[in-house]
Amino acid sequence: MKGIILCGGAGSRLYPLTKITSKQLLPVYDRPMVFYPLQTLLSAGIREILFIAAPESAGDFLRLLGSGKEYGAKFTYEIQDRPEGLAQAFIIGQNFIDDDNVALILGDNIFEDDFSSAISKFKSGGHIFAKKVPDPERFGVVRFNEKMQAEEIVEKPLGRISDYAITGLYIFDSRVVEVAKNLEKSARGEYEITDVQNWYLRKGELQATAIEGEWIDAGTFDSLLKANNYAARKHAQEARQEKTQNTQAQGARKIANQNV
Ligand code: DAU
Repeated sequence: MKGIILCGGAGSRLYPLTKITSKQLLPVYDRPMVFYPLQTLLSAGIREILFIAAPESAGDFLRLLGSGKEYGAKFTYEIQDRPEGLAQAFIIGQNFIDDDNVALILGDNIFEDDFSSAISKFKSGGHIFAKKVPDPERFGVVRFNEKMQAEEIVEKPLGRISDYAITGLYIFDSRVVEVAKNLEKSARGEYEITDVQNWYLRKGELQATAIEGEWIDAGTFDSLLKANNYAARKHAQEARQEKTQNTQAQGARKIANQNV
């Protein structure tokens, strides 16, 4: 399984924060935003990762992340000349994907869940992850049947068809390159990732799983603030856990020494 982190786009909803830098490089608590989706892929065991960035910021990603050696991984970089839609990632990444399966993650998506199991079990078709949210109309949306199988997928529906937003992590087999190449632009002028999902859904080869952990698309001022607060809470929680473990280990060593 290879990984693509999509870091292009104009970031216009975060203007002027994004006037001189890319959205995915903005700070989220103690690190640049892109480190979160990177961690999601690394934790899931993916070691070959392609970053796709806009021409003006590609150099910044390269300087920040380098070869990948530091992370025990191999990083490569491509440029998206114009932000023409998420599905374009598969066309830009065609040579990188080759005949392998690929996980695409959006550079502004922060996940709490661990996807190692879904990624190691994946064989073919497509797999998407949905999260129950109060404002699904802001996203691509999936409607499930009573057996929790995906029935319908719509990009930013006008009315409420489901409470489940489709998150920005997508796994596909290598057919995705040809699927993306054959797409037509939507009414908003983009190659839509939901059209790719619908191709696999029509073939009966799309799995959709509801996730329980926190998921934040940090593309607006409010969600960026939410992401910062979430990351700070997580950091404090992990520090507390580490402290407790150290105290317990010290206690165990003391008892062991007394018994010698
Ligand atoms: O966050 C999940 C949602 O992401 C999905 O539910 C939607 O189905 C999907 O279309 C997308 O919706 P957004 O409206 O959030 O997409 P946005 O245009 O904000 O782009 C998402 C990220 O991808 C953002 O970090 C910018 C980057 N991007 C976007 C486009 C259109 C690119 O790198 N290149 C692009 O061409």
